[in-house]
Amino acid sequence: MLKRIEQIKSEAEGAIAAAGSTAELEELRVRFLGRKAELTMLLRGIADLPQEERGKVGSAANRVRQQLELKLEECAAELEASEISVSLAEGQVDVTLPGSPTHPAGHLHLITRTTRQIEDVMIGLGYRVIEGPEVEHDYYNFTALNHPPGHPARMLQDTFYVQSDPEVLLRTHTSPVQIRAMETQAPPIFVVVPGKVYRRDSDATHSPMFHQVEGLAIGEGITLADLQGTLVEMLGAIFGGSRQVRMRPHFFPFTEPSVEFDVSCFLCDGSGQLAVGERCNLCKGIGWIEVGGAGMVDPNVLGFVEANGYDPEKVQGFAFGMGVERIAMLRHGVPDLRRFFDNDVRVLGQFL
Ligand code: DAH
Repeated sequence: MLKRIEQIKSEAEGAIAAAGSTAELEELRVRFLGRKAELTMLLRGIADLPQEERGKVGSAANRVRQQLELKLEECAAELEASEISVSLAEGQVDVTLPGSPTHPAGHLHLITRTTRQIEDVMIGLGYRVIEGPEVEHDYYNFTALNHPPGHPARMLQDTFYVQSDPEVLLRTHTSPVQIRAMETQAPPIFVVVPGKVYRRDSDATHSPMFHQVEGLAIGEGITLADLQGTLVEMLGAIFGGSRQVRMRPHFFPFTEPSVEFDVSCFLCDGSGQLAVGERCNLCKGIGWIEVGGAGMVDPNVLGFVEANGYDPEKVQGFAFGMGVERIAMLRHGVPDLRRFFDNDVRVLGQFL
């Protein structure tokens, strides 16, 4: 019995020394020390041996078992180390090489792209692009824009106030930058203002944060006809083709007269029909699509910046504002504005 134990030992040691991988070692561990291994069976059968043999055989078998376990551990550590260095050497990556397949670079978000498109047209018309703060004073967001006290837009359900301070808020539109621009630049002034605005509103066509582009043109002899021409130029560039623009009377506190402006539908070319008897689903058969608000800047607004050369008796001009998401939705047939901000690349990737 003792001889057999020694045989097992040398057999196992030989096999372990010859093992070429950690996987092979694991097989050997099962073979020599596993539940069905000879040594294990032998240890289990010790109770059946004659009394005088039990001690010797038991201690010999246990010693061999421990020795083999140690050997296995040592070899495993060695093999593991060399396997790691081999896999590191094989898996070396040259990070300066182009990917395989080359990974496409990302692209601008549709909202950014639409905003830049509008900026580009306006720059072509001689406008400057400026920005203003998103956390704004009541003065710029409302007061200097001729919002009389008690105007509904000042009410809490529309406006996010900051730290319960009634004077500080998240701007509800980009119009406050009109005042900021006029405070820093004497007339004539031609600026476009892209940016984020905030309102307590959320559904398929409203998001608490959205984007607007504002336009402001003040100088001598600027008229509503100039506004019309500017909008025709801008909307034609965005929606393509020879678009027409119409203005409908409206009300905004900071313009007088105020209008809402529509662009002729780019899907049915303003006819309201896609085919004879088939109503255009984009403009709902009307032929026009509402785009934004505009008007001649109210003399009261100029009065707030009169000290910087904006004498309402001498200069005048127009302003307009529109939502970027709405334009992008119309242009690309996106049914839900919130998809722009889910950041699902399957959605965003469609708008190259
Ligand atoms: N600020 C308005 C809004 O968010 C849009 C607007 C209307 C802007 C008329 C203007 C304007 O500059 O003249 O609803």
